[in-house]
Amino acid sequence: MPLSREDNDLLTRVENGAPMGEMIRQHYWLPAIPSSKLEAGGRPFRVRLLGLDLVAFRSPDGSVGIVDERCAHRKASLALARNEEGGLRCIYHGWKFNPAGEVIEAPNHTGDQAQFCRHVKVNRYQAADRGGIVWAWLGQGETAPKFPDLPFVDLPPTHRSVTSTQVPTNWVQGVEASMDSSHVGVLHESTTQMTAGGGNERLIMTKALAPKLEFEDRPYGYRYAALRPLPDDRFYARVNNFVMPWFGIICAPHPGGPSTVFFSTPVDDVTHRAWFVHFNATAPLGMTIMSASPDVWNFPPLPPGGPDDNWGQNRDLMKRGHATGFPQHLGTEDFAMFLSQGPIADRTTEQLCSADGAVLRVRQALLKSVREFMAGQTPTMAAHPDLDYRRIQSIGGVLPAGTDWRVLTETA
Ligand code: FES
Ligand SMILES: [Fe+2]
Repeated sequence: MPLSREDNDLLTRVENGAPMGEMIRQHYWLPAIPSSKLEAGGRPFRVRLLGLDLVAFRSPDGSVGIVDERCAHRKASLALARNEEGGLRCIYHGWKFNPAGEVIEAPNHTGDQAQFCRHVKVNRYQAADRGGIVWAWLGQGETAPKFPDLPFVDLPPTHRSVTSTQVPTNWVQGVEASMDSSHVGVLHESTTQMTAGGGNERLIMTKALAPKLEFEDRPYGYRYAALRPLPDDRFYARVNNFVMPWFGIICAPHPGGPSTVFFSTPVDDVTHRAWFVHFNATAPLGMTIMSASPDVWNFPPLPPGGPDDNWGQNRDLMKRGHATGFPQHLGTEDFAMFLSQGPIADRTTEQLCSADGAVLRVRQALLKSVREFMAGQTPTMAAHPDLDYRRIQSIGGVLPAGTDWRVLTETA
């Protein structure tokens, strides 16, 4: 069923007090910047989340901080600040802000400095450096929500890579795609072949056949098993997870291989950041297309053109057999689709089919949570008593016909 105009707005908009933005702000940690971008005592980085302009930095002692970009005094940008022991010092008049965002020095004020500083109003945010990402909690109060201890978070840095690109469309288009398995064999036909090199038959087969999908609600969102019969008397099962509010955890293409977590986080109503965490739980990742990315803050690349030249689509390459004409990266193909859907996709006139169950469930989970929030409740999926991110498993395996796929997971 298509969404009403009101529900499409409720689902997608996050700025200026929109309920979805407020719900996310209060109940979830937001990925802000790859940890590797922040050098101890180095330059602060401008970061925009939910339409809020912020600055992320790493103090000389290694701790990370996220503060409002505009200085509380007369609103100069703290992206230009000096990064000193104990905090950022605005280069305009020298006010100094600690990593919690509080003013600790106002050298141009005569009188009782300490007392004056205590009375300057600031927003205080919590920051955390986990899993190769600096995260921010932008909510009210002292008690932060449960941290998403996803499978990559506690791995050594050698076992994972984190990259991210800013995409000029709404975030929900990205979240939907991470769970939309029926696009993979079509949109990514050529990039998948290029990556698998023809040597991974199971991977290619998984893209080629329409699987039977079985869904299951979980405390954090849902999971689904994609079940494909094999020529012998067995079947291949892949279990993927959607974790509120934006994580798609995709199982490894083969046992012992790297898995991926995709997430699309709202920069503002019409911009998102597409994150790709590629990880191997049991071995160093080594050089992959992701870990060898030239710039972790701008990878994968956006399509090379704008709408006037079909986003730089290469039709000559298509004549030679490429599926999309976007050979840059699998992510580039996704971004081209998001851009072509428009800044905020119109879900009021869609005509969905049987393959769209996972996309519908993403929308349902988000809309249920925001409605609970608007009713004054804590969203069930943000504070479920059984919410344990460490137990989430995305896993695949070959099983004898008639076996319950849940035997693959610990959380059957
Ligand atoms: S504007 Fe920052 S100290 Fe004056
Ligand atoms: Fe995709």
